Amino acid sequence: MTAQIAPSILSADFTNLERDLGKIATADWAHVDVMDNHFVPNLTIGLPVVERIRQVSPVPIDVHLMIEDPDRWAPGFAEVGAQSVTFHAEAATAPVRLARELRRLGARAGMALRPATPVEPYIDLLSEIDMLLIMTVEPGFGGQSFIEGTLPKIQRARKALSEQNLDVWIQVDGGVSRSTIERAAEAGANVFVAGSAVYGADDIPSEIDVLRQMAAA
Ligand code: DX5
Ligand code: ZN
Repeated sequence: MTAQIAPSILSADFTNLERDLGKIATADWAHVDVMDNHFVPNLTIGLPVVERIRQVSPVPIDVHLMIEDPDRWAPGFAEVGAQSVTFHAEAATAPVRLARELRRLGARAGMALRPATPVEPYIDLLSEIDMLLIMTVEPGFGGQSFIEGTLPKIQRARKALSEQNLDVWIQVDGGVSRSTIERAAEAGANVFVAGSAVYGADDIPSEIDVLRQMAAA
């Protein structure tokens, strides 16, 4: 599975999003964090802004919904053309119905787990999604440090996927940088979100390259 890099625009300049999206044109995805100040204690952007981001982004967008009631709100993001839409398992009422709806609308369906949410209750539902996001920090803010205790969960998820012969991506998000990406890749992740590590770099394209190579090694 090739390593994919998804810079998080949470660390971009929100008054210069088009310019800052241009800086990550060599990435695989632009990761877009939507927060509602209920599911997480922070508030970012909503559907109209994400729709414009989709229109000007040089790469496909990967929307990470940290919101309550994704059953109601997530399909709208697929409708405006987001190529990947991820909802949190803890917030969804009917995750399978929602994943099927996202796929029907043409998006890849992602399901996210907070650091303390076990993967085991979801093992039998993995065939319904395209990507499992294992949060490696508590969702809500950029710039936090990677929680090492999530590594065994990544390993267990990867094992369950290979046992079921499923081509489901595992994404990690939070504290991913040169100092943590190799361990996450070894554990079984193949899509890497990095906010501060990418936007804080002096040379963004070369940082994306370095991270991709480290993850593939
Ligand atoms: C945090 C967001 C992340 C955030 C990661 O809740 O979901 O996508 O931007 O930021 P870093 O890479 O700085 O930890
Ligand atoms: Zn995120």
